[in-house]
Amino acid sequence: MLCENLSLHVSHKEKIALIGANGCGKTTLLETIVGFCALSEGEIEIFHQKIASKEDFKNIRGMVGYLLQDSDNQFLAPVVEDDVAFSLLAHGMDKNEARAKTDKILKDLGISHLAKKIVYHLSGGEKKLVALAGVLITEPKLMLLDEPTSGLDFDMQLKLIEILKKIDKSIVIVSHDKEFIEGVVDKIYKISANGLKRMSNSDTEYVHAHDGFPPHTHPHEH
Ligand SMILES: Nc1ncnc2c1ncn2[C@@H]1O[C@H](COP(=O)(O)OP(=O)(O)OP(=O)(O)O)[C@@H](O)[C@H]1O
Ligand SMILES: [Mg+2]
Repeated sequence: MLCENLSLHVSHKEKIALIGANGCGKTTLLETIVGFCALSEGEIEIFHQKIASKEDFKNIRGMVGYLLQDSDNQFLAPVVEDDVAFSLLAHGMDKNEARAKTDKILKDLGISHLAKKIVYHLSGGEKKLVALAGVLITEPKLMLLDEPTSGLDFDMQLKLIEILKKIDKSIVIVSHDKEFIEGVVDKIYKISANGLKRMSNSDTEYVHAHDGFPPHTHPHEH
């Protein structure tokens, strides 16, 4: 079973990161929180409400923004600006207001030039940014971001750090990118076979991001 002995609490407006080896269950955990993946044991509470039935998940869906690890699975419309505005329009927002919000979020992310493009013709990093725009635009109370920096260039990563730091909401980031998560979050947890462990700077298990091969661990230092 994945994610045994795992208890995670995210406080109001807290930003945390989940790290762990490939296949340890990070994505599965996020999918469980949003109801894409069923719990075999345990329970989930979101915004002080126990979430168990499909109806419960439906009720919180609008308050939770989920950036999928694979952007190709995220898109809801073929043209960028329609895709980014999709959730707002689906919730009944006026077309002009939704368009203005879309223009702003595309501008904030520096991707206004992609507005009329077909999502499936974009590069990997561009797709990630469009998918992110579609999540950020809904201003969710809880944001779950699975590998938000994968495919992003260095300047874009810095920009994203600044954007996420400014957001005064709860955020859970799954990432292998230590420099990025250290720039954004308050706490880092590592998922392993023994459950969840809070990482501290002196932890020898804390893998520092660099291009070393084979992958190895060493104490965190600056
Ligand atoms: N739909 C599925 N059916 C069966 N097994 C699955 C499914 N999705 C994932 N798994 C398995 O569950 C385990 C955890 O996968 P998950 O995607 O949660 O890992 P992860 O920690 O997000 O890894 P990564 O860092 O590579 O993204 C893996 O061993 C994977 O093979
Ligand atoms: Mg994953």
